[in-house]
Amino acid sequence: MAQLIGGLGTSHIPAIGNAIHKGLQNEPYWKPFFDGFPPIRHWLGEKKPDVVVMFYNDHGLNFFLDKMPTFAVGAAAQYHNADEGWGIPTLAPLAGEVDLSWHLIHTLVEQEFDVVTCQEMLVDHACTLPLKLFWPEGDCPVAVVPVCINTVQFPLPSAKRCYALGKAVGQAIQSWDSTKKVAVMASGGLSHQLDGERAGFINKAFDLQFIESLTSNPEWATQFSVHELVEKTGTQGVELLMWLAMRGALSAAAPGVRRVHSNYHIPISNTATAVMALEAV
Ligand code: DHB
Ligand code: FE
Repeated sequence: MAQLIGGLGTSHIPAIGNAIHKGLQNEPYWKPFFDGFPPIRHWLGEKKPDVVVMFYNDHGLNFFLDKMPTFAVGAAAQYHNADEGWGIPTLAPLAGEVDLSWHLIHTLVEQEFDVVTCQEMLVDHACTLPLKLFWPEGDCPVAVVPVCINTVQFPLPSAKRCYALGKAVGQAIQSWDSTKKVAVMASGGLSHQLDGERAGFINKAFDLQFIESLTSNPEWATQFSVHELVEKTGTQGVELLMWLAMRGALSAAAPGVRRVHSNYHIPISNTATAVMALEAV
């Protein structure tokens, strides 16, 4: 059976794409952010996952406001990246893992998560930048299964529901008939708000508590409604739902987690950034 080795999380701000493209990683503005990655890359170099199941939110590229699935799972052999308007370089297509995609889809639907299946799927900065951050050299060495959670248009799924989705994904990975090693990944957050009266809003105290909870008390954030999470983290900070799904997958697969490394830095663009790796133990 496949092995779920651990979970990764990172912010996915489009400006990171330009910073990578222009080689700005050691500039004073960017260094505190990029410095969070080498210890995790080292761990990934030892663990060598073959596949990443990526919880992320599409930002209007593949799904627009006229058709907005709550949960959608990619089942394509290849995922093309396109720029949905940020002016960042597009990255090479990502390889899919179709067998795991369908196993995931079957398991999720059996468990009453009625997902949209996508045999063609364009992926945006939220899917591509985390992979480039964790594997900066050359083409991406892992295949991906994108799992898209709507954080763009209300109604959004609850924190409790996203955690449960993650658990079902973790069970599916564990029961996948394969010798491959799988990591789960969360793309998004932490606190940020891009528009409206509270544009620029960041909540460091909440973010730090949330990061801590992922190790010590993973269901802590499921006590909050989505509207409470928007209040506490901003309209886009609610992307932290991805982190809860990632952590839910680990809860289903292992009795505990070990924090390999984490980093928190404010701000990059409008966002409070976080990166983290958790090993399933
Ligand atoms: C920013 C953050 C995001 O999560 C995103 O999707 C786009 C932009 C930002 O802070 O600039
Ligand atoms: Fe985003």
